[in-house]
Amino acid sequence: MNNTEYFQHAQQYLTGGVSSSFRYNPFTARPMYLSKAEGAYIYDLEGKRFIDFFMGHGACTLGHNRPEISVAMKQVFDIGFFAEFDHPLTGELAKKITQNIPAAERVRYVNSGSEATLLSIRLARGYTGRQKIVRIDGQFHGGHDYALVNNLAANIDRDNPGDRLSQVKHASAGIPLKVDETLYVIPWNNAELFEKLCKEHGHEIAAILMNPIDYNNGCIGSSAQYMQAIRRICDEHGIVFIIDEILSGFRTGMTGGHGYYGVAPDLCLFGKALTNGIPLAAVAGKEKIMMKIMDPVDPVVAGGTFSGNLFGCAAGIASLTIMEQAGFFDGWLERVNSFYTQLQTIFDEANFPAIVQGLGCTFGIYIGTREPVTNYHHIAERTNPELRKAFFLKCIEKGLYFHTDFTISAQHDEALLTQSLDILREVVREAKKRM
Ligand SMILES: Cc1ncc(COP(=O)(O)O)c(C=O)c1O
Repeated sequence: MNNTEYFQHAQQYLTGGVSSSFRYNPFTARPMYLSKAEGAYIYDLEGKRFIDFFMGHGACTLGHNRPEISVAMKQVFDIGFFAEFDHPLTGELAKKITQNIPAAERVRYVNSGSEATLLSIRLARGYTGRQKIVRIDGQFHGGHDYALVNNLAANIDRDNPGDRLSQVKHASAGIPLKVDETLYVIPWNNAELFEKLCKEHGHEIAAILMNPIDYNNGCIGSSAQYMQAIRRICDEHGIVFIIDEILSGFRTGMTGGHGYYGVAPDLCLFGKALTNGIPLAAVAGKEKIMMKIMDPVDPVVAGGTFSGNLFGCAAGIASLTIMEQAGFFDGWLERVNSFYTQLQTIFDEANFPAIVQGLGCTFGIYIGTREPVTNYHHIAERTNPELRKAFFLKCIEKGLYFHTDFTISAQHDEALLTQSLDILREVVREAKKRM
């Protein structure tokens, strides 16, 4: 079956022909089905090869089908796989996480990033005895009820200029209205507003949850100063500072955005690149908070049949072992930064309105603007959705696969990046002709 035939076939059995609504490509408006993936390449059902800049929604930063991960999977088959028991591999991964990430004093596993954000919220509520969670307007934290509000730049409170609380905006049908009463939503990078909120309502706030670097809306960074201000305010008001590193982890180095900005969260959440494509995520953080799970009187319940599954743990050990190698990130990030500079030069020389913003191996391309995009309002105000769509459709047609967020894996070597830049140059040339 070719791609189109399979899409039609799958729709008879799978809702929408897919297992996740995020599989629909925002440019082609249909899912991409793969026959295989290898290194930096993906192959569709007709065997057409693409240089992949999606990398499994940022999960496969070390490359698809990485041999070391396959070896780890075989190791699990040799052990004999089972469920709902721990094995020494489970503890070995937790030890590695605590050794590499200073903020991670204790670890508990879940199976996905969404479960990690959900558990972290419950943990903060259980630990503080408070109900409210502060969320950032426009930030993505997965697919549960507390996360599916104000979750992308497209779902922000557009009327908020950035200096007041945002209205809660449901991003999905089926979210209980009661959820709104459990949240305060604030614009990002405004510590004064958070401080003001805490002065008035700190006694009812359990946690603030944020992404340190936003890669769900391209690439928008924060600052050390902002993150440190949030840290101080949390300390002053006894609020749990939760940093979601599900997408930002292991991209700028061995930690995540919190290490990059030099701030220590109370809880940090890792998934995706932690295991390089095998399901597992980790909630990690201060022992005194994590131990609320073991409270003999009033514990926070954190359990699941597949939590700490052996495949995920073995993949996590293999991934961290690769990334722990001295200098591992240096050559990769040098390549990546040179790619960003060269791509920006291509845009500038062609006088094509586009800005490349990258931090570590993940980046965004904002099309329609020459001004940097530094907040979520800028995306609607400055970028050009039609030009953006036409641009990325051309990229896909010419064999560069782009989806929602863009990652350059450790397997995108110099030659592949040069080839990608040549294709991007052609796409820009053709787009310019149509402008
Ligand atoms: C920042 C962030 N948090 C949480 C999640 C949810 O992770 P998962 O898709 O594994 O549930 C994602 C997924 O893209 C994410 O980008």
